[in-house]
Order: sequence, then structure tokens, then C-alpha cells
Amino acid sequence: MRCLGLLFFLVCVVTSARAYHVLCVFPVPSRSHNSLGKGVVDALLGAGHEVTWATPFPPKEPTKGLKIIDVSATISLGQMIDMHQVRNDIPGIVKIKTFATNITRLSLSIPALQQAVISGKYDAVVTESFFNDAEAGYGAVLQVPWIMLSGVSVMPPLEAIVDEVRSVTTIPLMFNNAPIPMGFWDRLINIIIYSAMAIFQRLNRPKTAALYESIFAPLAAARGVTLPPFEEALYNVSLVFVNSHPVFTPPMSLSPNIVEIGGYHINPETPPLPKDLQQLLDSSSQGVVYFSMGSVLKSSRLSERTRREILEVFGSIPQTVLWKFEEELKDLPKNVIVRSWMPQSSILAHPNVKVFITHGGLLSILETLHYGVPILAVPVFGDQPSNADRAVRSGFAKSIQYKPDMAKDMKVALNDMLSNDSYYKRARYLSKVFGDKVVPPAKLISHYVKVAIETKGAYHLRSKSLLYPWYQRWLVDIIAALLLACLAVYVVARRVLCYLWTSVNGGDNKIKVKKN
Ligand SMILES: *[C@@H]1O[C@H](CO)[C@@H](O)[C@H](O)[C@H]1NC(C)=O
Ligand SMILES: *[C@@H]1O[C@H](CO)[C@@H](O)[C@H](O)[C@H]1NC(C)=O
Ligand SMILES: *[C@@H]1O[C@H](CO)[C@@H](O)[C@H](O)[C@H]1NC(C)=O
Repeated sequence: MRCLGLLFFLVCVVTSARAYHVLCVFPVPSRSHNSLGKGVVDALLGAGHEVTWATPFPPKEPTKGLKIIDVSATISLGQMIDMHQVRNDIPGIVKIKTFATNITRLSLSIPALQQAVISGKYDAVVTESFFNDAEAGYGAVLQVPWIMLSGVSVMPPLEAIVDEVRSVTTIPLMFNNAPIPMGFWDRLINIIIYSAMAIFQRLNRPKTAALYESIFAPLAAARGVTLPPFEEALYNVSLVFVNSHPVFTPPMSLSPNIVEIGGYHINPETPPLPKDLQQLLDSSSQGVVYFSMGSVLKSSRLSERTRREILEVFGSIPQTVLWKFEEELKDLPKNVIVRSWMPQSSILAHPNVKVFITHGGLLSILETLHYGVPILAVPVFGDQPSNADRAVRSGFAKSIQYKPDMAKDMKVALNDMLSNDSYYKRARYLSKVFGDKVVPPAKLISHYVKVAIETKGAYHLRSKSLLYPWYQRWLVDIIAALLLACLAVYVVARRVLCYLWTSVNGGDNKIKVKKN
């Protein structure tokens, strides 16, 4: 009887939680961006919702509740851009922006995605914030809550869309590797970079709006809705999910509709290692060094000489070395294993792993924080140099420059990290703090998406800052009014005093004159 009651209760609970249908658009053709998207999709599927996922890397196995829109056509765009060559300067950013625009345009020329926007029935849409403001059109045409995912911590351009920009005076921008608190020059540089970005964005607005119109107006017409003006659509963000955690990214005050979900892409249940690797790692009593430069950056970009020199360094240490490398290497030292694919999470989870040599991409750093492994960073581009610097300052990393003769530096850094356990201890400590969460980040995702849907846009969580024009937010009008008032008081007081002065003295004179 009791069992039946329980069963009845469970059925009620399961059936009363209504499943929603969410459109997730993540067309950026890179494996790490795709993992970010997959994390969101998995969180929503896990909560029982239906998901339609536009992805350049469609999974091979079908999943219940998941529909796929194949946007693998964008992969050809990724091959046109060489990340090794992209620098953190204005031309570099302009190039990334063109790349992002190309992705938006190309993905929305794919009939299946067009059809989804024209006739799909969704309760919310999630897109990735990636230099692509024109994608505000998804929310505007579907007329459902628009949710953004940011793969990095909150940057001022994103802050400017949902809230007042408050971080610029206190937190270094991604391209400014400064310590906190910043000194005068670092703050000056921060303001200059931000102003340049803001002006660039302003000047680009008409172009972005034109792109938005040209792509989404036909889709809106086909759906039978009127397309709102670009700025109305852009500032209509319901929620922002940010891939950050205060243990690594600088803590900052955030509007309640910005939700930090750092680490959400990590599967809480680490898959087991393949048998051979498990045996190898178990038997490496001296410890293991894991080396992987991620997915964008192929190790095969390393010259023959650099590879040889790195192999010599690895051969000279007693630890086992696992190297994720896309090509076969000959004459390997006995302690070095090279494979084109490695189960990264499962390796990092093994207690014998002592150091992870990485390019310092945010996802890899979050994984090392989760598993508590110190890193030797070899940053190349984008946010990697500032991630590496931050990790070094935080005490769980060393960093060396990416260059053809980096093997020498690698040897010094590696020997230091393997002989001094302060990095390891710090990584274990941070891992404990990082893992101590009230709610797993995947739960936060499904909860907030539900809130946005059920409150028709989470207006109650949105910052009110943007209801005020900039001069009101920065008190320009109030300060001007107070200055004017002071000026008025001063002028009146001067007049009155002058009058009194002349009437008293002048009067005296007159009397004196009369008397004389
Ligand atoms: C973007 O597309 C244009 C035109 O199709 C092309 O000329 C340009 O090289 C592309 N840029 C990037 C960075 O993908
Ligand atoms: C270990 O490294 C830390 C951080 O670089 C340093 O402060 C400490 O002095 C080192 N300890 C030894 C014994 O070298
Ligand atoms: C703003 O978003 C809400 C849902 O969050 C949507 O219903 C509404 O149509 C959107 N308005 C504009 C102008 O895009």
C-alpha cells in the first residue's frame, strides 16, 4: 500500500513538471565552443525538457528528447581562420568579428535552421555570445525569452547589453594582463581599451543592425510577425549564463539575471579510463605528466626540431608522460605515450597525475580546478595568456612562452613543479573550494531557463540600469544641476553682499557728504 502511495506520488511529481522545448543555437565551429553548447543541452535534457540543437558536430547516437539541426557547413569557415595568427589587437578582433558574422550568416542560410525560426514552436532560445549581436533576432522573431551563454567571464560589451558597465574601473579586461588592484597605468590602459571597444561597437551598430534586418526580416515575415528595431531586440536579454567561477575569475557584482555556471561542462560522473590507460596510470608510482594543447591548437603545428627537443625533456624525467598529439612520433622515450585522442577528464581525475601541460584555455583550466591538478601553461592566443597569468598569480601554475625553442623553459618549469609540491597543494585546495557548491551548475541552468519561460522573460531579475540613459547613470545631470545650484547661490550671495556693502558704505559716504 505504502509502495503504491509512493508510486502515485512519483507519477504526480514527474507529470506535473511540464517539459518545455528549447532551441539551442551554437554554430561556432570549434570543439571547445561545442562542449559549451553541449553542456547546456545536456543540462536541459537532464531536466526532462525537449531540445533542438543547432551544432556543427552532430552526435552520432540519437538521444531521447533531442532534435539536431546540422550546421556543419560552418566548419569550412573555421578552416579559413588560423588561430595561431590571430593576435589580441584591433585587427585581430576585427578578424574574429568578421568570422563571427560569417558564422551567423552561413548558419541562417541552412534551410533546417531557417525552418526552425519560421515555423518552430519553442518556449525559449539560447545562443552563444560571440561577437554576434545580430543574433538578437532569434528571440525577436520567435518572441520567446532570449538567453545568452558566455564562454568566458563577463566582458564589458556583454555587461553593456544587460547592465551598467561597472567592471572597467576595477577589473582588468581580457587583453590586459594586470594584477588586481590595478595601478594607475593599468587602469588607464583598461579605460583606453574599453573606450576603443565601445567606440568600435558604436560605429559598428548600423552595420550590425543592417545585418540583423537583412537576415531576420525575411524570417519574421515568413513567420508572420513584425521584426522589432534592432536595439529593442538586443536589450531584451532575459538571462545570461557565464562560464566563470569566483575561484578563478575575479569576483564581481552581477545583475541577478547573470548566472555563473563555471564547471557545468564537466560530467559530475567521470567516465572510467580505458583498461590499458588505467593500468598504466595505476602503475606509474613516480607520477604522470599529461600534455595536451587542446582542440583548436594542433600539436602538429610544432616543428620537427621542437618536437624532438620536447621529447628529450620528457625522456629525462622519471614520470610517465601522456602526450595528446595528432600524428605518430618515432623513437619515443620509454616513459612517453603518444595518442591522437586522450580521455582528458578521466586522466585528470587520476590521483597519480602531477602536472598538466596545457595551452590554458578556460575549459581546460576549469577542468584542472575541478580535479585539482596544477598546470604548466603554454598560452597562445585569445584569453589564454591572461588565464595563464591569473593561474600563476593564484599559485597553482607556472607559465612559459609558446615559441620554437620552448623546450628549455619547459624543462626548468617542469622540474620545479615536480620537485616543489606547493603548486600541487594549492591546486588541491582550490579544487575543494571549487567543488563546494550548493547546487550543481547544470541544475542552475535548467532552473533559470524554467524561470525565464514561466515569467515570460525574467523581467524581475533584469537590472534597471538601462532604463536610464548614460548621463543619468553616471550622475552627469545631477552633478551639473548641483554645480548650477552652487553657481546660482554664489551669484545671488555676491549680489546681495555687494548690495549690502554698497548700501552700508555708500550710505555712510552719502551721509558724510551731506554733513560736509
Ligand atoms: C568572411 O566572409 C567573407 C565573404 O564571404 C570572406 O571574404 C572573408 O574572408 C571571411 N572572413 C573570415 C574571417 O572568415
Ligand atoms: C615552491 O614554490 C613556491 C611558489 O613559487 C615558492 O614560494 C617556494 O619558496 C618554493 N619552495 C621551495 C622549497 O623551493
Ligand atoms: C522581449 O522578450 C520577451 C520574452 O522575454 C518577448 O515576449 C518579447 O516579444 C520581446 N520583445 C522584443 C521587442 O523583442
